[in-house]
Amino acid sequence: MSLMPMSLIGKKILIGISGGIAAYKTCELVRLFKKQQAEVRVIMTPSALNFVSPVTLSALSGNKVLINMFPDVNPSKTEKVESSTQHIYLGMWGDVFVIAPATANTIAKMVYGMADNLLTATVLSSRCPIIVSPAMDEDMYQNQITSQNITKLNESGFWIIEPETGELASGLFGTGRMPEPEVIFKYVEDFLKNYKRDLNGKKILITAGPTYEPIDDVRYIGNYSSGKMGFQLANAASQRGAEVTLISGPAAIATPRNVSRLNVKTSDEMFNAVKNNSTGKDYIIMSAAVSDYKSKEFHSGKMKKSGSGSFLIETSKTVDILEYLGKHKNGSKLIGFALETDNEIEYATEKLKQKNLDMIVVNNPKVEGAGFGTDTNVISIIDKNLNVASYEKMTKFQAANVILDKMQESALSGTER
Ligand code: CTP
Repeated sequence: MSLMPMSLIGKKILIGISGGIAAYKTCELVRLFKKQQAEVRVIMTPSALNFVSPVTLSALSGNKVLINMFPDVNPSKTEKVESSTQHIYLGMWGDVFVIAPATANTIAKMVYGMADNLLTATVLSSRCPIIVSPAMDEDMYQNQITSQNITKLNESGFWIIEPETGELASGLFGTGRMPEPEVIFKYVEDFLKNYKRDLNGKKILITAGPTYEPIDDVRYIGNYSSGKMGFQLANAASQRGAEVTLISGPAAIATPRNVSRLNVKTSDEMFNAVKNNSTGKDYIIMSAAVSDYKSKEFHSGKMKKSGSGSFLIETSKTVDILEYLGKHKNGSKLIGFALETDNEIEYATEKLKQKNLDMIVVNNPKVEGAGFGTDTNVISIIDKNLNVASYEKMTKFQAANVILDKMQESALSGTER
């Protein structure tokens, strides 16, 4: 493998090692980072000590390996007393935090925000990106709970290095093997090369998910929106340094790291939450699939079936939140979404003009790889100068980054319609 000369000069890499056989590979990973002039600090969980020696890792990293959460009550005279708040400093110190190997146990603790050792406590207090390399036996990896936990970590904005398929420590063949140190090194190197903090200091309000408009105590008018696109926007914007407020309709998705989330149910609640949180925002992105109609009346309790066989609900229009924002612009750039099944560009352009937007993102749920519930999207973006950019199918996280790129370009381009 050819390495770029000194590609990591000045980078601070925090490495977390939990108790798995693959921990031996992390010794080599530390050496690769050091060879590229990165500063490396290693945290081990107590069970990792069963697999590799802190003496080895200390020699390779050039720093004392950190294991204990609390200071030694009887430190030797020569040893500096560790602070019981060192997890806070470690979390602020790293440019990136790489957890390799991450066992099923450590992953589960991270998902539930446990802080029972120095590694998990540092995960909770870190603001830097966290890259997780799960490594375990195939049965543990494919266990439904572990796989849900990994999905939740990913949704929360942790980066996951997929384990490889091959011979496992148990002697069995399967998926769960930690990739070779060179592979993880390359992943982290590329990650740091592409990592942008271009939204530092920017305040962004994002809405996501559907709204539920109640008919009675058990029924509602809603839609199939999963909220994935809006959550990925919040995730990407937060990774890029923005201060993100996410207003979400009912959505079963984990909140991205460092994002402040407000849950709402109805379009009226979303409207109020948006009004209360829109002041001082640099950008407002309305990706929520707000219901266009709500039931005129709310029936307390559960309505009984009528004998006639038909059931009519009288509806009224909901407030168009985006239109309201377009009419009360207060310095924020306004980005809307349009879901169109025909004449996408034409209809979306109309919406952009009519709602006084700075940009609109359009997708067609009938196109393969786009729409509700999928992890991918196929989008076109129309800016305020009516330039149209259309993109191939990509993940919703990639689409989110493209939207954030365009949003900034569009904010910089001076021409107003
Ligand atoms: N929107 C909103 N408030 C509503 C309805 C929609 O803020 N009551 C926003 C959505 O968040 C989205 C944009 O308006 O950013 C477009 O929504 P869409 O439903 O596609 O279009 P509509 O303007 O409602 O028009 P139509 O349903 O006729 O296509």
